[in-house]
Formats: sequence, C-alpha cells, structure tokens
Amino acid sequence: MKEKLKELEINSVGDISSAPDSVTLNDIRVKYLGKKGLLTGILSGLGSLPPEERREMGALANTLKTSIEGAISAKGAELKDSELKTALEKDRIDITLPGRASSKGTIHPLTRGMQEVIDIFTGMGFSVEEGPEIESDYYNFEALNIPKDHPARDMQDTFYITEETILRTHTSPVQIHTMEKVQPPVMSIAPGKVYRCDADITHSPMFHQVEGFMVDKDITFGHLQGVLHTFIQTFFGEGTKVRFRPSFFPFTEPSAEVDISCLICGGVGCRVCSGTGWLEVLGSGMIDPEVFKAVGYDPEVWSGFAFGVGIERLVMLKYRINDIRLLFENDTRFLTKF
Ligand code: PHE
Repeated sequence: MKEKLKELEINSVGDISSAPDSVTLNDIRVKYLGKKGLLTGILSGLGSLPPEERREMGALANTLKTSIEGAISAKGAELKDSELKTALEKDRIDITLPGRASSKGTIHPLTRGMQEVIDIFTGMGFSVEEGPEIESDYYNFEALNIPKDHPARDMQDTFYITEETILRTHTSPVQIHTMEKVQPPVMSIAPGKVYRCDADITHSPMFHQVEGFMVDKDITFGHLQGVLHTFIQTFFGEGTKVRFRPSFFPFTEPSAEVDISCLICGGVGCRVCSGTGWLEVLGSGMIDPEVFKAVGYDPEVWSGFAFGVGIERLVMLKYRINDIRLLFENDTRFLTKF
C-alpha cells in the first residue's frame, strides 16, 4: 500500500502541474479526491489492514490528501490568474476608436413658439393665467355671449362630453374665470391647449392658443393696436406690416381679424398669401358689454380689449411649415431642424 500511495503521489504531482486550465484541474481533483477517486479508494481499503499498519497508512494517506489539496488550490489560483489575464487581453477596449455620439434633444418648435409669445406679453406687463381644458358650456360659450342654438356656435366644431361639458374650443373662457376672480384693472394672457373637431393640413383636433385681454378705465382700440403691433414686430421681425380687418366675434364689439404682410413675398402677392399680400394671424376686438355683465363688471365704468392667437399658425408662418401634421408626428428629422 505504501507503494501505491507513493505512485499516486508522483502521478498526482505530474497531473496537477501539467493541468492546462481550471476545467482540467477540476477533473484531476475528482480523479484523486472525488467520491470514487483513487485516494478515496485506497483509504477505503484501510479497514482490512492490521491495526498498526492501518494507523501508519492512514496517517500517510491523510498527509498525501492534504498535500494534493494544497497543490490543487495553488495551481487553481495560478490558472485563474492567467485565465483572467488572457480574458482581459482578448476583451481589451481600443480607446483610440471614435465614440458613438448620443443624440441630443431639441426644444419642440411649438414649445419654443409658445415660450416666445409668453415672453413678449409678460415683457409688456401681462400676467399669465391658466384654465381647465374640460370646460362647461357656460364658460366656453354662454358667458362669452354665445347663447345655446346661436349660429355663432357653428364657428367652432365642438367636442361634447355631455350636454353641458365640453373640451374648450378656445382659450377665451379663461377671460371669464379671471374676471370673476379679480377686479379691474387687469391684464393677463392665457396659454393652453384647445380642441376642435377638425383635421386637415392646416387644422389639428388639438392645438394651442394664447388668449390675452386688458381691462381698465378708458381702454380704446388704439391700445389693442399698439399691443398687437408690438407683439407682431417682436415675433415676426421689425417692418412686418399689420392690418386690422373688420370681423365678427360674439364676445367682442367691434371685432377685427389681424393680418400681417406676407412673409414670403413681402406684400406683393404670391401663392402662400393667395395673391393678397396678407396673412391672417389672429382674432381680436373690444370686449363686448354683455361679457362684462356676465362677470359683474360695470360696462359704463370699464372697457377693454381681447385677442386670441393660434400658436401652430404663428409657428407655421414663421418657419414656413406647410403641413400642421409635421408638428405632431415627432419625426426627429423634422424636429432637429429648429
Ligand atoms: N376665441 C377666438 C377664436 O378662437 C379668438 C378671439 C379671442 C377673438 C379674443 C377675439 C377676442 O377664434
């Protein structure tokens, strides 16, 4: 048995030192020390030896077992080390390669347009108010002098939620909410989303407006003209001509639609302005006494003007966008042009 152990020692040293990788090393461990391993086999034969020899062989076999274990774990550490080195060598990152640029976001043209409009009016002293997008028939229509069944309701195709509750068709109801809250003098704007049942290349069922109004003593049409003139010069550039064209809105009297000289042809007439030289940009007028009565302002004491401007329209004109749907498709090839 001594010889057997000697032989096993020599073989195991050879096996372990020549193991090329940790998988083979593990096989070697099983071969000698596993449940059915060579050393285990020898140890189980100890029982049949006479007691003295058994003790001697047992001690020898145990020493051998410890030394095999030691050799395996030393070799294991060595192999692990070199395997890690090879893996690192193989996976080495080439830091001289150019990096992949991540794409940068841009501010959406509508957001930018909205911010510009808000900046211009707050710069003139207007405060900013907001109102609900789900609105009552009263605030959207009746308080604005548009009674039920009045033909003026046809001007705005409305999404009805119930008989009395709708998606607001314009930001004008915020005028009513604000006037109910505060006494004149007041000047505020109301930016926000509005909804109309309408969709083609210049209309979207959801779009953005900025409402503005001012109430004080002795406010005249001249004040309205001055404010809108300043707005248009700032938004579209110095020298843009402004024209007030008589129109009708139930909540203003007199009412005017505001046109600017065509941004493409400068007023000579082209396809974009249908040969007229003018582009329509917003609706406005002097607040109707009926609206003042609805909110409890005395029309004999107070006067004011109001206007409402569509942000999509402004942005489309300014950046020469001919299809409103481009603004809502979120195609980054389009959005990164701004
Ligand atoms: N609310 C009107 C619209 O959406 C615009 C407007 C606002 C006109 C204020 C006059 C005064 O068409």
